[in-house]
Amino acid sequence: MNTDTQHDAQYAWKHKDLLDVSQLDKDDVQHLLDLAVSFQEINNRSVKKVPTLKGKTVILFFAENSTRTKTSFDVAAKRLSADTFSLSKSGSSINKGETLKDTGLTLQAMHPDVIVIRHSSSGAAEYLSKLLPCSIVNGGDGWHAHPTQALLDSYALRTVWGPDFTGKTLLILGDIEHSRVARSNLYLLNLLGAKVRLCSPRTLLPRQCGQWDCEVYTDINEALKGVDAVMCLRLQLERQEAGLLPDLSEYSRRYCLTKERLALANPGAYVLHPGPMNRGYEIADDVADSKQCLVLDQVSAGVAVRMAVLYLLGTRNDHLPA
Ligand code: CP
Repeated sequence: MNTDTQHDAQYAWKHKDLLDVSQLDKDDVQHLLDLAVSFQEINNRSVKKVPTLKGKTVILFFAENSTRTKTSFDVAAKRLSADTFSLSKSGSSINKGETLKDTGLTLQAMHPDVIVIRHSSSGAAEYLSKLLPCSIVNGGDGWHAHPTQALLDSYALRTVWGPDFTGKTLLILGDIEHSRVARSNLYLLNLLGAKVRLCSPRTLLPRQCGQWDCEVYTDINEALKGVDAVMCLRLQLERQEAGLLPDLSEYSRRYCLTKERLALANPGAYVLHPGPMNRGYEIADDVADSKQCLVLDQVSAGVAVRMAVLYLLGTRNDHLPA
């Protein structure tokens, strides 16, 4: 594997944890994504394993459901030869009332190098990062942040747009209010030079979004005009209060990304979705299955990006005396 990049001579990763993309500067992001390109080369080999993190331990602590994030962190760690252990809410002592603090201290006592945490509470990853000496990766906390999702989305866009997103416009469409994916992507896409638009029903727009670096729409037809990519978001019904939406069929009638609506965007505009998709509600079947849709490229990018994150965090102390 070639982990040399043009940044390497001057560049040094300085982060103990990855809590959100807002802690990263452009050099961090370019370095991490360049590294992920090298790791993707391993993922395309017939033998997909290197000894880079042999002897390191990664704990996957997922107190909320996940398919993509949990599996891809597990695959990523194993491809780097780290040992992985999984803890879910169901089947753990969290269900007997154990606190986040005691769960964290218990896991730390097993001397992991990295803990990846997903939690329904915004700030859970930051809380563990202050409590524990091992590296913490935020695998999604409440409505707050999902840094590796934003990084993998930018990786997928880089493969079609190149590394500089200047001149590109991306629309984030759907349930913005409850979306950690939207918040992390807004920062990262702006950092890489893209313009960002948000579109959702007024009841699903965050109150403070007028102060964010983006254009805000409630009319999907207006929002789609002239965009180069659309990121559809899942309706997060599990996080919504009753009454935010009149009903699902009305939402789908007004906001579902259909082929007809996508035709309002620039020709060949790409479609992204972090998954899981609610087909027929926020995205139509024929859009989800179209060539313009990068959903499975995003999943594939997720393994490479998470290998890069685990590599950077898992080796950060390797220069210190044993
Ligand atoms: N995008 C994402 O976080 O998917 P999972 O909930 O399946 O991990």
